Amino acid sequence: MDAVLAEPIAAALRTALEIGDTGYPYGPGYAEAFADFAAERWHWQLHASEVAVLPEMTGVVEMLKLVSRPGDPVIMTPPVYPPFYQFVEHMDRTVVTTALTPDQRLDLAGLEHTFARCTALGQGAAMLLCSPHNPTGTVHTADELGRLAGLANAYGVRVVVDEIHAPLTYPEAPFTPYLTVPGAEDAVVVTSASKAWNLAGLKAALGIPGVAAVPDLARMGEEVSHGASHFGIIAHTAALTSARGWLDDHRAGLDHNRALLGDLLAEQLPMVRYRKPEGTYLAWLDCRDLGLGDDPALTFLDQGRVALNSGLAFGSGGAGHVRLNFATAPDIITEAVRRMATAVALHGS
Ligand SMILES: Cc1ncc(COP(=O)(O)O)c(C=O)c1O
Repeated sequence: MDAVLAEPIAAALRTALEIGDTGYPYGPGYAEAFADFAAERWHWQLHASEVAVLPEMTGVVEMLKLVSRPGDPVIMTPPVYPPFYQFVEHMDRTVVTTALTPDQRLDLAGLEHTFARCTALGQGAAMLLCSPHNPTGTVHTADELGRLAGLANAYGVRVVVDEIHAPLTYPEAPFTPYLTVPGAEDAVVVTSASKAWNLAGLKAALGIPGVAAVPDLARMGEEVSHGASHFGIIAHTAALTSARGWLDDHRAGLDHNRALLGDLLAEQLPMVRYRKPEGTYLAWLDCRDLGLGDDPALTFLDQGRVALNSGLAFGSGGAGHVRLNFATAPDIITEAVRRMATAVALHGS
């Protein structure tokens, strides 16, 4: 994200430096700040005392370890955030996929089939859900999540949910915390202020258990929470308590950018299919009609000098797509689309 750090966060970090608070983190402040934010924004009442501090969003790996065993399948819904594949493969679990539907929603019938197949021999299975979804920006509805929780319960599939993008949804698609839907009691959520306030360099995250997953989280290794950065915890806590206004202003700018991107593409690259994301600052662009092959990001970079994420890294459904990050200045978005259009024109000439 191209953004100037929110002043309350900068002030909290400056104060820590000035008073020599450069040692260890202490106390439940981060979890309490998140609980207060979640109650205000999403009417989600969670118990801060049950929340674990994690080093960063790679904490989803620790959570998956707690709810699954080596060899178990971990179900994911591609196209999806590329590191999910590596996370799961490096922990001796097997990736199993059920793609999103063509209109980028959870394929609940497909998931039921996958859940049934994965658990048929009495084997355990877990699901890693991205909510909101990166890269499509899909915000799963309360109804979709409730139906998913019902299926997970029926088949004994343990769900771990990555909710890092939750504060970044747009007005038409309110965010539903997974742990607020009936049937989600044995799920675990991983979240962080890192994405919404641009704090990924200040590492910290939280693991939140549903009521039936509290004993699982209690088994987490002591060393895991030692990995969070003290400055990360200070920054994230300040974000959640004192930079809510910054978030709202920033999100309004992102909302403007996602509309601007749509206008620019309609004018200059009408063959690119773009569905305005309901959340996140990521645009998932279907470039299959441009005739640039499976990896259009290569042509955009080589011929237009504009860098987009290749859709291929996101797994099945990614061929012919690129991901564009619109958390930047409107003139940079304008220039990026101009360069994309130039690349297409050069490619065709
Ligand atoms: C869905 C998702 N999870 C996790 C992360 C990583 O977060 P962090 O850098 O704070 O560990 C990202 C970053 O892009 C993400 O999009």
